[in-house]
Amino acid sequence: MSNLVEWFEFQVPGKVICAEHCVDSIGGEMDNVGGSKVLVVTDEGVQNAGLTQTVIDGVDSGSAEVVGVFDQVPPNSEIQVVQNCYDKVKESGADCLVSVGGGSVIDTAKAVTILMVEAGDLLDHQSAVYIPSGPMPPHISVPTTAGTGSESTFAAVIADHEQKMKLIFQGAELAPTIAMLDPFVTTTLPPGLTASTGMDALTHCIEALHSEMHEPICDGLALHGIRLISKYIARATADGGDIEARTYMLIAANMGGIAFANAFVGIIHAMAHSLGGHFGTPHGVANAILLPCGMEFNLRYVEEGIPASYRRVAEAIGLDVSGDDDDTAARKAIQWLRELTMEIGLPKQLSEVDVPEDGLADAATDAMLDGSMFNNPGDPEEEEVLELYKKAF
Ligand SMILES: [Fe+2]
Repeated sequence: MSNLVEWFEFQVPGKVICAEHCVDSIGGEMDNVGGSKVLVVTDEGVQNAGLTQTVIDGVDSGSAEVVGVFDQVPPNSEIQVVQNCYDKVKESGADCLVSVGGGSVIDTAKAVTILMVEAGDLLDHQSAVYIPSGPMPPHISVPTTAGTGSESTFAAVIADHEQKMKLIFQGAELAPTIAMLDPFVTTTLPPGLTASTGMDALTHCIEALHSEMHEPICDGLALHGIRLISKYIARATADGGDIEARTYMLIAANMGGIAFANAFVGIIHAMAHSLGGHFGTPHGVANAILLPCGMEFNLRYVEEGIPASYRRVAEAIGLDVSGDDDDTAARKAIQWLRELTMEIGLPKQLSEVDVPEDGLADAATDAMLDGSMFNNPGDPEEEEVLELYKKAF
């Protein structure tokens, strides 16, 4: 890896607001971006936790009105859900969206904004980069997990059950207009989800660093994200009401999101996406299991600077690697991540999460087709990916 920065592009998403109870002022923010009839997009868990009402009350602080609530987003959203949500938009006459939930909810709302501009079937609007044919509707996102960073990314991941694949819709215009980081709405997230979504955020930071597209701005975001997550993830998992930990986890997830929205992710996400498409493996759990193995695999890319890059991960975590060579320092970081996964109560192997061993070969074939694979250093082969899945099994 040369130290010379030859060329890069860095795109900034929409406005980010962070404060405890900032959702109480969502109405004023919606007024600023011109939305008047709000459809709230969420899931049943958020609805049952009473958070939808918190957001509806927040919308009432401005002049916009809530014309409907769509709460049928499943954990891994899919094309039919997006179409159903769009039907609700048409039925209610909504002209803007407020999404309240994790990545699946926010991604669903992003995909719905495509249909609000283009109409028709979502599959008709699949392309390398989505370029809208008209103005995008205002979309305010309120993440209830500190994980995907979807509130500030340019992509929507939507499952296509027929093709057993996760489709990625990508384009700068898909980033929500405003992201509201309110730690209060994450306090009811149970420990398991706090841990797994937090590991997703950590994987974004680490993969943004080792991506072939990494550059100094993303490196800075990713490294600080790693500092914050390594400091706060165990605290947020152990005590959901720890507002300081919840706040910094939201900020770190947001930084990781902006980093990987620009630098992209690599082999770990390619493999996690494929497991999600084939077996419904929760994204954060898949990443947590695959992260140490994927990093170990990438250590072979010495010329691409991977051990040196992971040394910076170790330093960001706060490990003492002063007398170590890069490979040793990197392995200390990987070992620390393995111990962290155990500490926060996540599974260590794919066999623990209902992934069938005889399905790994098909998962490896599809992981090779995932766009994230192309940003990984080197050119991993399908047999190597299968080998990695077996190691993680
Ligand atoms: Fe992710």
